Amino acid sequence: MKWWQSSVIYEIYPKSFYDTNNDGIGDLKGVEKKLPYLKELGIDAIWLTPIYLSPQIDNGYDVADYRTVDPMFGNNQDLKELIDRAHRLNIKVILDMVANHTSDQCIWFKESKKSKDNYFSDFYIWKDPKPDGSEPNNWAASFGGSAWTYVPERSQYYLHYYASQQPDLNWENPLVRQYVYDAMRYWKSQGVDGWRLDVITQISKDLTFKDVPTTDSNKKYIPLKNTSGPHMHKFIHELNQQVLKPFDMMSVGEAPNSNIEEILKLTSPERDELNMAFSFEHMRIDKAIGKNGAIAVKKPNFLKLKQVLSKMQYELNSKSWNALYFENHDRSRIPTRWGNDTEYRYESATAFATILHGLKGTPFIFQGEEIGMTNPKYSVDEYEDIDLKNKYQEQVKEKHLLTTDEFLKVEHKIARDNARTPMQWNNKKNAGFTEGKPWYKVNPNFTEINVESDKLSKKSIFRYYQQLITLRHKEDILIKGDYQELLEDDKNIFAYQRSWKNKSWLILVNMTEKDLSLNELHDNLKNYKKIILHNYLNQKLEDILKPYEAYILEK
Ligand code: GLC
Ligand code: CA
Repeated sequence: MKWWQSSVIYEIYPKSFYDTNNDGIGDLKGVEKKLPYLKELGIDAIWLTPIYLSPQIDNGYDVADYRTVDPMFGNNQDLKELIDRAHRLNIKVILDMVANHTSDQCIWFKESKKSKDNYFSDFYIWKDPKPDGSEPNNWAASFGGSAWTYVPERSQYYLHYYASQQPDLNWENPLVRQYVYDAMRYWKSQGVDGWRLDVITQISKDLTFKDVPTTDSNKKYIPLKNTSGPHMHKFIHELNQQVLKPFDMMSVGEAPNSNIEEILKLTSPERDELNMAFSFEHMRIDKAIGKNGAIAVKKPNFLKLKQVLSKMQYELNSKSWNALYFENHDRSRIPTRWGNDTEYRYESATAFATILHGLKGTPFIFQGEEIGMTNPKYSVDEYEDIDLKNKYQEQVKEKHLLTTDEFLKVEHKIARDNARTPMQWNNKKNAGFTEGKPWYKVNPNFTEINVESDKLSKKSIFRYYQQLITLRHKEDILIKGDYQELLEDDKNIFAYQRSWKNKSWLILVNMTEKDLSLNELHDNLKNYKKIILHNYLNQKLEDILKPYEAYILEK
């Protein structure tokens, strides 16, 4: 077993974690200060979202210099000290490599755009306009509008899968690849243990640059369905050979459009690509196409959740390794999204945590998930995210596809900013996040939901996570045990067995706020006498599952 297989990894969005110099922005010293808190929680590694020099158009996912810590977070020395302190506490440190694109303020791009024949000219993807002067093709950017932006100096367009301030790197150019690898080696020399690789499956482009076929004449720009180009595996393998393997660094790649076959290819050890990949499919169980083709949300389809997660468990089982997550900095808060964030906040937060941490793979916790933080219900101008702002402009203001209320109804459920509000440490000023003016509005419910009061509560979500993590450290069955789904057709109960040697565990979770009968499991249940973990106080196993009730039982 590798260290990351028996680990629980904690994702930190430094900007919103803890501010030590009272400029309202979380910083690296803040992360260092909170390491004892993370040690108490029990996690084994932290993943920091990008801390490099950046104009922050996309909160650091627009990197201007890969080797320099942005002054708003501190400096390179602070990062070194954070890493050393973490290592002394036996906590590993994972950084985020944004290698698909840079910021338009990166020196490589500033040079590249000047002319067609300088050293950096081919660092990005430049194309001539169509004869009528329009974009080279109809590809849409992920954050709205065209994926191409025109630059007069070169009389050409450059490609950007995300915002126009995030030009895509040209991975076909070997120099680009060497520059990226070198930056990663630099951070290895500073003690970094591994990488989360941002949208790594998108680095290879469809080199035909053909229009996406469409029958919809209203839409000018069409999203690419398949963003994994022909050289994706080749490039990732090279990255593995040049950096990951020789320097023994862990890797987890973000794989937005990958199906299970591709995830398997990316993560099968004999292919020497990545250790793990974040698949997206299980996070689409509540997404729908709404009015005028705009994105909408529907009631989560838990049958689908079970199917997708089970398929991943079976397929990856002995062949590779799962990355398990429900929340991250691009997702909203689970109690609000799939559970009940008022009456059953504790129960639903712990229920979904039980599902996730009972599975085979490496669980990732996002800051605040361990105390059941929830989505705020902000107004349009209280959101910061470029993705949301662009979409609002396009869908509501320009195209009138939705009204503001309709737009907000969706975003209150799934907006990325829902997860990015400052961490709620206590019930004092600004939730104890900063003494200054927070860069982003604190969720007003911090007076109730915060680390301090959670820990004092009889129903402590933090303590429940501690128990889950301890179990993962002590019990081989959770790391190595085989997975077997039960009650496959039940859309309300998630039930599965894990088995290892002669031990068998049953993970049993009610995903609804109704009492549910367990008749169907009755015979099986009688064998599971020992309660390993349970999210209700003073209850014994009966034939009814209470709202969001969750058990781990042993035969
Ligand atoms: C990834 C990041 C997201 C970012 C995007 C573009 O999906 O997680 O936050 O906006 O890549 O870099
Ligand atoms: Ca600060």
